[in-house]
Amino acid sequence: MDPVTNPYSPGAGLRPRELAGRDNEIETFGVLMERAASGLTSRSVVLTGLRGVGKTVLLNELADRTRKAGWIVGRVEAESSEGGRPFRQQVAQTLNRALREASGSWGLVDRVRRALGTFKSFSLRTDPSGGLSIGIEIDPERGRADTGSLDTDLTDLALDLSDAAFDFGTGVALFVDEMQELDGSELAAICQTCHEAGQREAQFYVVGAGLPSLPRVLAEARSYAERLFQYWPIGALDPDDAASALIKPADDVGVTWENQAVETIVLRSAGYPYFLQEFGKAAWDFAPGPDISLRDAEAGIQAGMASLDQGFFRSRWERAAPTEREYMRAMAEDGDEPSQSGEVAKRLGKKSTAVGPARANLIHKGLVYAPEHGVIAFTVPGMADFITRQPAN
Ligand SMILES: Nc1ncnc2c1ncn2[C@@H]1O[C@H](COP(=O)(O)OP(=O)(O)OP(=O)(O)O)[C@@H](O)[C@H]1O
Ligand SMILES: [Mg+2]
Repeated sequence: MDPVTNPYSPGAGLRPRELAGRDNEIETFGVLMERAASGLTSRSVVLTGLRGVGKTVLLNELADRTRKAGWIVGRVEAESSEGGRPFRQQVAQTLNRALREASGSWGLVDRVRRALGTFKSFSLRTDPSGGLSIGIEIDPERGRADTGSLDTDLTDLALDLSDAAFDFGTGVALFVDEMQELDGSELAAICQTCHEAGQREAQFYVVGAGLPSLPRVLAEARSYAERLFQYWPIGALDPDDAASALIKPADDVGVTWENQAVETIVLRSAGYPYFLQEFGKAAWDFAPGPDISLRDAEAGIQAGMASLDQGFFRSRWERAAPTEREYMRAMAEDGDEPSQSGEVAKRLGKKSTAVGPARANLIHKGLVYAPEHGVIAFTVPGMADFITRQPAN
């Protein structure tokens, strides 16, 4: 069928036509927003899951909802401390825009003026030549957000912004994608800010998304982090939701899926959103129309698998050096299940210390992660299977 009207969206952060299976998260977040409007606080939120499960699209959906409700909303994608933009600068830039919007619609009442001043101090620290322009003349608020230490300054900024938002019955939310990329001091600053805000009943929330290792790195940054956040594991969709991710977008444009075609793709994708989109798209492109048959689905899976192998999996495999590939090959004996690091070393006939650098490099490259101490797992589903299909070199 016409690829121009293809309603599936395999990719990174591309909003699917049907955001399937996330109603619980959206509802729970709605409760947080409603509570905030009545001055009641809740814990901040951290979404965790493997690559391609839909963390970014869910994060964006939640951000849209807070924006529509008139909150001050910032959104950043964390970058690694080597070479990436500093977190402080990113926060300053995103909140700059949010504040300009808020001050435009709220007017320069006292608390907004003060929040703008605090913001000015905060941003002067990232850009001493004058801070970010906020479009109006405002003096930096002395003694607020100007110590240069991120935890103190972010706390000041969060408190003053939420003070301003409070007058309008809303709050402040900072959305942080790829949160595991932040370093220990940045994570600690986030924890401390949420902790202070909670104690003062300020409506300031961080909504983070990251790999399943994120709760562990947060707990390392601040031991109380496990009680500070609500952790929402984002995973594969259950079969009904996976089916609606396929059926609904087609139905909207008058195209029907045969039951067996849906069942086959749901099964082969194991409900992983990215695979569902990839197979759905390929099946659509293959189908002569007007409906999508089992044959189309099978051809779609084949084409989709080839495309995953060529892109998604191969790019990861090629990023690994030979010793790192050996390490992953030893992990792949456990399939997609996590492996014991000691056991992997044993399979390679080496001591754990000898394979330590390969393991560390793989973590650094984002190909594997440590769900807990001494355990190692792939960051994408299906990687083990891909590896076993690669010829030994
Ligand atoms: N709930 C959903 N229903 C249907 N499709 C979805 C859903 N969530 C995500 N997708 C699709 O899955 C793909 C991956 O989504 P997304 O980029 O949000 O994943 P991610 O978890 O952020 O991945 P990464 O860790 O690589 O950043 C996209 O093609 C998106 O359209
Ligand atoms: Mg993402």
